[in-house]
Amino acid sequence: MKLSEARQLIQVKAPVLSRKRRVLADAFNVEEYRKAAQKALPAGIFDYLDGGSEDEVTLQRNRAVFDAWALMPTWGPVAGPDLATTLLGKASSLPLTLTPTGATRLFHPEGELAVAAAAARAGIPYGLAGLSTVSMEAIAERQPGLDRWFNFGLGSDAQARHAKLARCKAAGFTTLIVGVDTRALGSRERDLRNGFTAPPALTLSTIADIARRPAWWINFLKAEGITFPNLDPRSAAATSLVTPSMWQQILGHSDATSGWRELETLRQEWDGKIVLKGCVNPDDVAKAARIGLDAVQLSNHGGRQLDHMLSPMDVLQESRQRVGDALEIYVDSGIRRGSDILKALALGADACSIGRAYLYGLVAAGSPGVGRVIDILADELRRTMTLVGVSSIPELKARGNEILRDLRHSGEIVETSASGGTK
Ligand SMILES: Cc1cc2nc3c(=O)[nH]c(=O)nc-3n(C[C@H](O)[C@H](O)[C@H](O)COP(=O)(O)O)c2cc1C
Repeated sequence: MKLSEARQLIQVKAPVLSRKRRVLADAFNVEEYRKAAQKALPAGIFDYLDGGSEDEVTLQRNRAVFDAWALMPTWGPVAGPDLATTLLGKASSLPLTLTPTGATRLFHPEGELAVAAAAARAGIPYGLAGLSTVSMEAIAERQPGLDRWFNFGLGSDAQARHAKLARCKAAGFTTLIVGVDTRALGSRERDLRNGFTAPPALTLSTIADIARRPAWWINFLKAEGITFPNLDPRSAAATSLVTPSMWQQILGHSDATSGWRELETLRQEWDGKIVLKGCVNPDDVAKAARIGLDAVQLSNHGGRQLDHMLSPMDVLQESRQRVGDALEIYVDSGIRRGSDILKALALGADACSIGRAYLYGLVAAGSPGVGRVIDILADELRRTMTLVGVSSIPELKARGNEILRDLRHSGEIVETSASGGTK
């Protein structure tokens, strides 16, 4: 064969030199973004992102649980499919939200601003963490078109609460996400073992890490120090660098004495939407509906809080049966594939929410990386919908029972190993 003939059979591709562009070109799924994030981050920070509490049983379960349902396509014509939906009365291009993750500038110098830009481009809501490293006002100014949700901490100090509610309203945050799963900080033993602090303490192993991951360290040292501008301004952490002991206090921020009464008060005081995040008990979902909340986000905090806690998928059907259409139900913890979203919607969810998945994209390739992760999930969802035979999100929700088979009840053996998961 002549060289000119051989060249027609072989495509010559120029090597992609920038690491960010290489990831964007070569990572085809969320797990590959996870691996790219692992290469880019100092080990202790990657463990803080990726790890779970204690024996990480719940972290593993969050992936394995999706294997309990198999897809059962129905034959017939499919159009589209159309992924558009409505969440809390607003149009969303996908049944997906980006859920709050604190301290995002630890992962990338643009932090929450980069995530907000990707969510705005994709046309989906973004929940800003109370412990975000960018202020809610900066997010509002840079992304006025973004559907902005805020992670609101319950507390007994009425003056502080009123001030925070006024701030949310002024910055155009329409929805409060109230977390109920951080009454104590989960014991994340990887972090304890690594002596995790923010900023990372300078030890012999940190110095060795600088040589392995120079890009992260250069970006981190060039960027402004990490602060938490959405905390009460009276808190020192709102304005200054975080020392190791403050970090522990900040992570255990939730007021354990708050309960349903405080939530009812908040319902009366806030005329926007309220999402209760972090329960997996259908009784709590029913109570949330009774006091007039707008949505519940079934979640075990991505396996980072109570180990051995149920996964949202374990209680989704029962939760939906208990409340009917009285409120919207979202699912987070372990979403890594479009087929995960399809299964959750088929079992009664209105949307899914991702935490680590978008952070992997952020670490690996900044705001475009977050955008790619959203696109990958959208493409996977669209392809899965086509292959199972549904054309739209309302159709998927209405015909969910027809396209899923619960392998645990049909006597099939379920392999419970994690599939492409977080570990
Ligand atoms: C690094 C990191 C920080 C987080 N910070 C918060 C937070 O400040 N508030 C909160 O309600 N949830 C927080 N979460 C939990 C997420 O909102 C979400 O419940 C979880 O990440 C979902 O699981 P997934 O990561 O498997 O998608 C955090 C999760 C991660 C990974």
